[in-house]
Amino acid sequence: MSNPSMRRRVRTAVLISGRGSNMVALVEAARDPAFPAEIALVLSNRPDAGGLDHARQAGIATAVIDHKGFAGDRGAFEAALHQVIADKDIELVCLAGFLRVLTPWFVTRWTGRLLNIHPSLLPAFRGLDTHARALAAGVRIHGCTVHFVTPELDEGPVIMQAAVPVLAGDTAETLAARVLAQEHVIYPAALARVAQGTVRLVDGRVAADDDDTPSTAPLIVPGLPER
Ligand code: GAR
Repeated sequence: MSNPSMRRRVRTAVLISGRGSNMVALVEAARDPAFPAEIALVLSNRPDAGGLDHARQAGIATAVIDHKGFAGDRGAFEAALHQVIADKDIELVCLAGFLRVLTPWFVTRWTGRLLNIHPSLLPAFRGLDTHARALAAGVRIHGCTVHFVTPELDEGPVIMQAAVPVLAGDTAETLAARVLAQEHVIYPAALARVAQGTVRLVDGRVAADDDDTPSTAPLIVPGLPER
């Protein structure tokens, strides 16, 4: 029987801009030697990103490439980003609250190896303020999506999604917290599948080997009571 701890793990970088709770979820999952990816680098475009400290304490290599040092030259910023990642022999990149829009130059270099987590059920609510917009739209089901990154913002093929109900009395904050708890579940699960090769990007679509059919029980959420 093969020893899972002897399998080569896919070297993965996590790119953050802030507190890094999704990065922490990925780091925690990868502490298991059987997890198919190793978090080999945590990189931030902001020197004050809270998540950097956690990564350092976890003994993970960190790097800061401050976009402000590039005077709006996105090409130079991304070339620096690419260089640091390539120097570390990184094979997969996970965006986790990385708040810089990446240009097609970078995205095409990492096609099929660049993942993002977005706090909505894409293709609904691309962009910012997803929870407030979901509440304003009156949807009863909200959630999060892990997807392959393509040059179009928040448009890449979906790898995994989780849905949560919108509850009476929800604020953007309470809804965000419910969604975030699911982000921490699906991002490690999605990374594991991509790292082990059971989920791939093929001709712009997601192809999967494993039969991951979820429960067929419908998630039915009735309309909100009058407030
Ligand atoms: C997460 O909710 C993530 O989905 C979102 O930023 C937050 C980062 O939190 N990403 C986006 O909105 C990207 N469009 P974290 O730093 O605690 O992981």
